[in-house]
Amino acid sequence: MKDSQELSGNVTGNKIVMSGIRPTGFLHLGNYFGAIRNYIRMQESNECYFMVADLHSLTTHPDTKSLKSNVHRVLAENIACGLDPDKAAFFCQSQVYETAELYLYLNMLAYKGELEKTVTFKDKVRQHPENVNAGLLTYPVLQAADILLHRASFVPVGKDQEQHLEMARNFANRFNHRYGDVFPEPQAFNFNETLVKVPSLDGTGKMSKSENAMATLYLADDDDMIRKKLMKAKTDSGPTEKNSVKPDYIENIFLLMGLVSAPDTVASYEADFNNASIRYGDLKKQLAEDMIRFISPIRQKAADILSNEKYLAEVMEKGAQKARVSAQKTMKLVREVMGLNYY
Ligand code: TRP
Repeated sequence: MKDSQELSGNVTGNKIVMSGIRPTGFLHLGNYFGAIRNYIRMQESNECYFMVADLHSLTTHPDTKSLKSNVHRVLAENIACGLDPDKAAFFCQSQVYETAELYLYLNMLAYKGELEKTVTFKDKVRQHPENVNAGLLTYPVLQAADILLHRASFVPVGKDQEQHLEMARNFANRFNHRYGDVFPEPQAFNFNETLVKVPSLDGTGKMSKSENAMATLYLADDDDMIRKKLMKAKTDSGPTEKNSVKPDYIENIFLLMGLVSAPDTVASYEADFNNASIRYGDLKKQLAEDMIRFISPIRQKAADILSNEKYLAEVMEKGAQKARVSAQKTMKLVREVMGLNYY
């Protein structure tokens, strides 16, 4: 993972950024601190393509009647967090048809053996043995197409996507060797200090889109729900000795506080912990209020955007147009080096 403050441009010298967001489930605090915050920072001084991965979601056969509302929600929530469709191209994968063409060419360079070894594929096979379709197998090829289509060098993603990124690099290199140099090597990117794994409230793992909703804080949760979830967060009766080591679940609560509370608030509870005089009930009440101050403006803004279908349509159209310009430039080069330019 690259961790410098600024994107310095890789061997090809570009600073093109691309990432995809699956339109499944409500966004939560972990999505914000793990990904969205990086997008917002990157959009300021780079050419950014942020995409809703609706085609990827088809691999698991969702009810397509819910696609539109899921796509709308992802758009609205990201914009409410600060993603700016005037700065970045914010678009829907299915609206950029060049994706399918590049996916087809890359499929010829992707081998069955390596695709079958992909961790995410093996997980899906285990979870849904009745639906092991070819789209699922070639999921990483489609993802590589998304990235390479814009000849992006930087891909802000979490750790779980590193294998897919490595595969995208392999496909890019194979293409370059076979046909000619078109693609830079994309690399996973994260501003080091903002790479935060937001823990779940029950002390097991991290916040998740699908598992254990009561242990995850969603950007759509109302104030009472936020209070309720935080009051239920796992604690104990407190340290009995001064300067004790914090158990994991207490460490987690302090981590959450560090994300949304004022530094002196955190410091004062740290001091109480170290004095063995901390009252977790008070801490949780304080954290709930600070969390509400953080989440509720985002929730309200997202609701406003969601109710404005005309605006959402404009965002998608504008984003798709920007993405198509970049995609068409790349595909012209791709067809040329492949010898698919017959006249
Ligand atoms: N596979 C990614 C995920 O599950 C989503 C994704 C699709 C993506 N296309 C991408 C991420 C391109 C980065 C770049 O989160």
